[in-house]
Amino acid sequence: MSPYVRDGGLSLEDLHVSLSDPSLASMTFLNEVSQRYPKAISFAAGRPYEGYFAVEDVHRYIERYCRYLKQELGHSDAEVRRALFQYGRTKGIIHELIARNLRLDEDITADPESIVVTVGCQEAMVVVLRALRTDERDVLMAVSPSYVGITGAARLVDMRVASVASGDDGIDFDALDAVVRETRANGLRPRALYVVPDYSNPTGQTLSEADRRRLLSRSRTEGFLILEDNPYGLFRGVRERQRTIKSMDRERRVVYLGSFAKTGLPGARVGYVVADQTVEDGTRGVTLLADQLAKIKSMLTVNTSPIAQAVVAGRLLENDCSLVAANTRETALYQDNMRCAHDSLTRHFEDVPGVSWNRPDGGLFLVVDLPFAAGDEELERCAEDHEVIWTPMAHFAADERSRRRIRLSVSQLNPAEIDLGVERLRAFVDDCSRSAE
Ligand SMILES: Cc1ncc(COP(=O)(O)O)c(C=O)c1O
Repeated sequence: MSPYVRDGGLSLEDLHVSLSDPSLASMTFLNEVSQRYPKAISFAAGRPYEGYFAVEDVHRYIERYCRYLKQELGHSDAEVRRALFQYGRTKGIIHELIARNLRLDEDITADPESIVVTVGCQEAMVVVLRALRTDERDVLMAVSPSYVGITGAARLVDMRVASVASGDDGIDFDALDAVVRETRANGLRPRALYVVPDYSNPTGQTLSEADRRRLLSRSRTEGFLILEDNPYGLFRGVRERQRTIKSMDRERRVVYLGSFAKTGLPGARVGYVVADQTVEDGTRGVTLLADQLAKIKSMLTVNTSPIAQAVVAGRLLENDCSLVAANTRETALYQDNMRCAHDSLTRHFEDVPGVSWNRPDGGLFLVVDLPFAAGDEELERCAEDHEVIWTPMAHFAADERSRRRIRLSVSQLNPAEIDLGVERLRAFVDDCSRSAE
């Protein structure tokens, strides 16, 4: 406890109920573990590779954006200064460039007016859920195991979350149908389904095109929206990339969540949401959901930092608005690392009963099943005794199997570190198996 807190302190029950929920502490805990064991080999954080970061890039990106404003849009020097220094448009100032990027990289045709630029994808999740949660009957369905950012955001706005199990190929449609049925039977409303269809965090799974189409069809017949979150889709593996669900969406069933954290730089804290659904708004007539989300954003962060948006815009402009092009080195590196992780796991664990893992061909994450519980305590022990860290899947799901699963992220390591890390993991597994005997 802080030495400054004495008499008159508050108890947790005096504060919002979300603060008693472990999902809110989860993100901070996972960040802190890496910091506490700086010498350990870290499979824990889903952060982008740092070897290509260069401070000069930040300055150059801002200059590139200013040049674009002047030369391509004809802005005066005063207008350029204002764009960077002043409060700005609530929905953001780089919406046209994002729309161009979505057309090029994701085959999504987005009206720039339907885009709200947010403080990371995280803010987009909060504003979308805030808008959808009208009363205690509204339910967010989330494909489980689910990213803690979405479950935490739901807690903040007091929205119920119903987990939809995923099988080895992604979403389990029988489970989805059952959740919709049960939700309705309990007098509740399934408002939206959250899904990360490409190289998901935490499972690394990718949905097939047929399942994407089935989801769209369910969304139509059952009347819920799809929240498609796509931070990893362009880090493809050997297979062709799948089409985004939004690119197949002809009826505005999908709210698309975007992030520049993995494809640009997380330090900019810039993300966005495409919300092209129409909303009747009294005397204003028909508006876009994006305009309603902007009202919420105006009370949360006013507008996303224009300086941060300029950095992202400069990176987009330098690559003709293609983040696929901007990330060729990163994509190749993650692919190599993923291949290396599969090879190392095969070498070190082939003969170990009860240990198995999935084989995503791209992205940042894969999941290992272990024959014993692997939670926060085991993580600490593994870090202390074996100098290797990972993420307990229990942070992403409450089911029994997840207690024995761990997520490995390959994004911040090189092949030698991956191999050494997997060797250390084997020593940890041997230790735990011995003590279980
Ligand atoms: C599934 C998912 N969505 C979104 C994000 C990124 O959010 P932000 O743009 O707020 O960093 C992450 C980052 O870890 C993620 O894994």
